[in-house]
Amino acid sequence: MLEVTAATAGPREYQQSFEVRYDYPVYFTRDVFDPHNPCLMTALARREPDKRHRVAVFVDDGVALAYPTLEERIARYAERHARSMQVVDSVVVVPGGEVIKHRHDCVEQILKDLSLRHIDRQSCSLAIGGGAMLDAVGFASAIFHRGVRHVRLPTTVLSQDDSGVGVKNAVNAFGAKNLLGMFAPPFAVINDTAFLDVLPAREKRGGMAEAVKVGLIRDAGFFAWIEREADALARFEPAAVDVLIRQCAKLHMRQIVTGGDPFERGSARPLDFGHWAAHKLEALTRNELRHGEAVAIGIALDTRYSVLGGLLDDGAEVRVADVLTRLGFRLWDDAFDLRDPRGGRRVLEGLAEFQEHLGGKLTITLLAGIGQGIEVHAIDTDLVARSIEWLRTRDQRAHP
Ligand SMILES: NC(=O)c1ccc[n+]([C@@H]2O[C@H](COP(=O)([O-])OP(=O)(O)OC[C@H]3O[C@@H](n4cnc5c(N)ncnc54)[C@H](O)[C@@H]3O)[C@@H](O)[C@H]2O)c1
Ligand SMILES: [Zn+2]
Repeated sequence: MLEVTAATAGPREYQQSFEVRYDYPVYFTRDVFDPHNPCLMTALARREPDKRHRVAVFVDDGVALAYPTLEERIARYAERHARSMQVVDSVVVVPGGEVIKHRHDCVEQILKDLSLRHIDRQSCSLAIGGGAMLDAVGFASAIFHRGVRHVRLPTTVLSQDDSGVGVKNAVNAFGAKNLLGMFAPPFAVINDTAFLDVLPAREKRGGMAEAVKVGLIRDAGFFAWIEREADALARFEPAAVDVLIRQCAKLHMRQIVTGGDPFERGSARPLDFGHWAAHKLEALTRNELRHGEAVAIGIALDTRYSVLGGLLDDGAEVRVADVLTRLGFRLWDDAFDLRDPRGGRRVLEGLAEFQEHLGGKLTITLLAGIGQGIEVHAIDTDLVARSIEWLRTRDQRAHP
């Protein structure tokens, strides 16, 4: 009989340690459903070139409306490439915009659609839409069968230059944005400029705020380029928008690879400059303010704060606010004046919420120079209030 002594009954530690490698291509193309465009086929077949790939296709309803021939073009593309791909059953049109992240029945329906199509880990879900619908379909795809292949076709400037090329997806819950989600790198990403032809101006502009942001914290040359091209960008000249998207996407991709923390295990979100206030303003306005519009305000606020806090040279905040204004952003929202019952500014709740999302100590990215982000661990709310008043004064001068 085995004798259990005190020594053998004590805790034993066996170390587990392994790494999982991720790689995925990001393509830039035009007119992905032109039957002669090889991009989608290359993306689907990148692991098994000789297989017929089964694909469940989801389309954002905003895209379906703006691009009425899309479904037919997808069908024709699939027909032409029938040896290598099969669109299983009909294309599924899902709600676009934040509503898909708020309503959990939408995620359930996507899961049902994946199930009805018998999508398995070697078949694929393909999502065509804006950042919100990509987040929701990406989340459903990440939990279905514990993760099926997911190809993204982002259709907004923001999703092409930022969210679509990254590794995160999420939906909102219990009043909190992006509360439920996971880090799940896509199987491939295809940025197709043709979708931007039908994108409303407000949405086009929104995505440019992320480019200003990443230029400010990582790449002074890119920020200077945006300043030089601001008028062309404000007119949405395709050549300028194309350069902006590519450079911004590359900087976001580089951060994931070289930043050392692709799944955000630490306390910092280095690319979320301007975002603590932005997320709160989005919530306070019930998404009346779009993500990019809120980010533009958050950037202007935190740049002025960086100057008042002695981190950044005086005058840089004017440069930043000017370029955002030239791109067409308004750098004020009345939500700044909302107060809680004790008289505190509600936007300041954004600081605690930002911290809670990651855990650990408060970590906010500010600017130590143009092109140079810096992390701080405390925020002086009086300086935030002064920064808000600076934005108000500028806005009142612009809109008397
Ligand atoms: N996962 C991430 O890393 C990450 C990063 C940043 C932002 N996000 C999320 O992205 C979302 C915002 O995404 P967004 O700015 O792309 O907007 P969006 O997805 O909310 O789309 C905005 C509107 O445009 C419509 N639309 C999309 N493409 C269109 C097209 N080509 N033509 C016509 N209409 C079109 C949509 O139907 C929607 O009504 C937010 O939920 C934000 O939290 C996620
Ligand atoms: Zn953002």
